[in-house]
Amino acid sequence: MEIPFAESYKIKMVEPIFRSTREQREKWIKQAKFNLFNLKSEQVYIDLLTDSGTGAMSHNQWAALMTGDESYAGSSSYYNLKNVIKEILGFDYFLPTHQGRAAENVLFSVLVKDGNVVPGNSHFDTTKGHIEFRKAKAIDCTIDEAFDTESLHPFKGNIDLEKLEAVYSSFHREEIPMVIVTLTCNTSGGQPVSIENLKAVHHLSKKYGIPVVFDSARFAENAWFIKEREPGYKDKSIREIVAEMFSYADAMTMSSKKDGIVNIGGFMAMNDEKLYKEASVFNIMYEGFNTYGGMAGRDMNALAIGLDEITSGAYLENRIQQVAYLGYQLIGWGIPVQKPIGGHAVFIDAKHFLEHVPKEEYIAQTLAIELYLEAGVRGVEVGTLLADRDPATHKNRYPKLEMLRLAIPRRTYTNNHMDVVAVALKNIWEKRDKIKHGFKISNEAPIMRHFSVELEKVD
Ligand code: F0G
Repeated sequence: MEIPFAESYKIKMVEPIFRSTREQREKWIKQAKFNLFNLKSEQVYIDLLTDSGTGAMSHNQWAALMTGDESYAGSSSYYNLKNVIKEILGFDYFLPTHQGRAAENVLFSVLVKDGNVVPGNSHFDTTKGHIEFRKAKAIDCTIDEAFDTESLHPFKGNIDLEKLEAVYSSFHREEIPMVIVTLTCNTSGGQPVSIENLKAVHHLSKKYGIPVVFDSARFAENAWFIKEREPGYKDKSIREIVAEMFSYADAMTMSSKKDGIVNIGGFMAMNDEKLYKEASVFNIMYEGFNTYGGMAGRDMNALAIGLDEITSGAYLENRIQQVAYLGYQLIGWGIPVQKPIGGHAVFIDAKHFLEHVPKEEYIAQTLAIELYLEAGVRGVEVGTLLADRDPATHKNRYPKLEMLRLAIPRRTYTNNHMDVVAVALKNIWEKRDKIKHGFKISNEAPIMRHFSVELEKVD
C-alpha cells in the first residue's frame, strides 16, 4: 500500500475555535445583514472566506520577525527581501507595498490612462477596480473552457491567444498599457496557466510591443500544477519552473498574503529601471520610502523566508492535496464544482447547486449563507455581487459563473476541518430542492459593493 501524504509540518501553537448552534448563527447572520464580511470572526467556526493573510507562519518566519531592521532607509530586511526576489523571481528592481492592491495602485498610476484597455485572464476584482477607477477597461481573454465547470482542461487559467490578438489588433499600441496574466487565475477557480501559454503570450505581446505583467499572488501553486501537468516539467524543481515562468514577464505585482505566507504585505518587481523610477514616485506618495513602502522591516524578513519556503521542500504537495481532498469528496457526492480542483480553493457551481433560485436573487450568496447556517463555515460569493454593476448602465453584470469559493488558508486547518465542510455541503445538497429564494439588496456602495452590501431575504 502506498504511504499517504500527511501535513509537511507539526503544530507548535494553537488557536481555539468555537462551534456555535444554528439558532446563534441565524441571529448573527441577520444582524450582519446577510453579508458574511460583517460577521465577527468568533461567530465563524471554519473560516474559508479567504486564503489571503490567513496562513500560519513557520517558526523560522516568527524567528525572523525578531531580527527585523526597522530603519527608515536602507534596512537589512529590505536587502534580504531584494536578494530573495532576485534569486527566486529574477527581477532586478522591486518596491514593497502594504498589500497586493497597493502594488496595483502604484504600478497602474504609471501605466494606465483614461480610455485604455487592459486584456488579461479574468482580472481579480481589485485589479479590475484599479483599472476601471482610471476609466480604462479590463478585457477578459480567458479560454472558453474556464467557463465550463465540467471541462477537465488542465490549464483553465490560460489566455486565449486569438482573443488577445483581436484586442491587440483592434486598438492602438498606446491604448494598451499591458496585458495582465493572473497566476493562478483566482476568478476562474484557482486555475493554473501553462508555461506554453505564458511563452506564447510573451511572444505575441513582444510582436505588438505590449508589456506583460503577472499578477503573481499564487505563483508557486501555479508552478506546482506545471510540474504535475505539463509535459517536460515533471523532473524540474519548483525553483526552475518559477524562474522560467517569470522570464516571460516584464513586471509583476504580488499580494504576499498568499504565496508569501505572511499576514500582510505586497510588492511589485520589474527589470526596467525607468519603470522602477516612475513607480517609485507613486510608491513614496502612497506607500512609503522605497526601502519599506508600507511594510515593517520584520514583515519583509518574514516574507523573504516565506518565498523561500514555498518554493522549496514538501509544502506545496501537501497544500494542493488538502484542497483536492475537500474537492473530490464533494465530486464523489455529485456536488457541482469547478473541475479540476484548483490551487487555493474549491469553487462550488452555485447555479447548478441551487437550480430554483433566480439569478436576480444572488444564487452564490444564497448558498454561502446556507453553508454558514448549516455548520458555521464561512465561504465567499464569487458571482453577481462581486461582479458589481456595469459602470455605464448601472445594471447588474451577471457573470458566466456563479460560484461559492471555499478558500483554504495555508498551513492552518487539518483534513478533519475539511470533513466538516464537506458534510455540511452534503446536507445542503440533499435538501437543495427546498431552497427556492435568495436575497435582494437593501444598501450598496458604488464600487466593490460585495464588502459592505446589505441584503434582505426574498420570501
Ligand atoms: N490579485 C489576486 C489574484 C488576488 O487574489 C488578490 C487578493 C489581489 C490581487 C489583491 O491583493 O488582497 O493583498 O490587496 N485576493 C484576496 C482573495 C483578497 O480573497 O482572493 P491584496
